[in-house]
Amino acid sequence: MLSLRMRASLGGRHVSGAERIVRREELDSSVLELLHRPKLYDSLTITVESLKEIHYIEKAMEITNLELPNYERAREEVVELLSYKIDRPILRKTISTIAKGAAPSGGNMRGAMLVDIDTGQRLEPDRERGVRTVRVDWEKRKEVMEALLREGYTERTLDALALATKNAHCGVLAELCWSDDEDYLTGYVASPELGYVRIYPLKKLGDPFGGRAYFIRRGDLQRVIECLRERAFLIKSL
Ligand code: COA
Ligand code: AMP
Repeated sequence: MLSLRMRASLGGRHVSGAERIVRREELDSSVLELLHRPKLYDSLTITVESLKEIHYIEKAMEITNLELPNYERAREEVVELLSYKIDRPILRKTISTIAKGAAPSGGNMRGAMLVDIDTGQRLEPDRERGVRTVRVDWEKRKEVMEALLREGYTERTLDALALATKNAHCGVLAELCWSDDEDYLTGYVASPELGYVRIYPLKKLGDPFGGRAYFIRRGDLQRVIECLRERAFLIKSL
């Protein structure tokens, strides 16, 4: 099996990223699909790597949906949802860190922040870069995509659900995410106990800030980072 990853940038800014895990016979069509995905870029990189080992996950997290009247109430709902395992002040601090741009430069990070679930301290080695979850896909991507589209979801949900499902299998105890896209307001919390809970709206229209926080145990730090970046996972079904 091969890991196929595409990233594109415009004026030095990351504008598109996507990945697949495919068989050799699917490589040509998958490369073309990813090549044509970004509309506007001045640099595009495609990486193909052979994978020595694939881990299988039987089932993705269950999806549920919540709609709140505004983003303030929605962020409070995040605190309530995760308070069964994380102290409320830690959750509030994490939310405000994402909301004001979690990178030291004042912008969004290039990956997720890692938060010590017991103290709220940030653990990622590089606060601009964060840690990225890669090498995850669906065993039958097309089939799962069609099922999600039928239920009114988009490819964004397909990919974010895969990512959150892998994270849980790497020892991420809870996750919070909302996009940095100015017009995409739905975010989610995910955990092995709650599943994948989509929440609308986690920010205000036009807000350029977004990010991901992965809550982990401090003692698991190296093992979790290694798993998120290196271990390849295919998810079998919804
Ligand atoms: N955001 C910002 N910059 C990114 C980036 C991202 N998501 N992914 C890559 N880059 C840029 C960074 O400058 C990075 O340098 P860094 O490691 O110092 O941060 C550089 O590209 C090289 O990154 P690398 O990790 O080597 O890229 P890769 O070839 O492994 O590809 C992607 C990673 C693009 C596949 C991955 O980031 C991605 O986007 N995956 C898809 C995620 C997804 O499906 N999201 C939808 C769910 S919401
Ligand atoms: P997005 O949902 O793609 O808008 O991404 C929201 C935020 O999640 C970004 O600002 C990054 O901080 C972070 N992020 C993006 N891609 C990844 C990834 N592959 N793994 C972890 N974090 C990511």
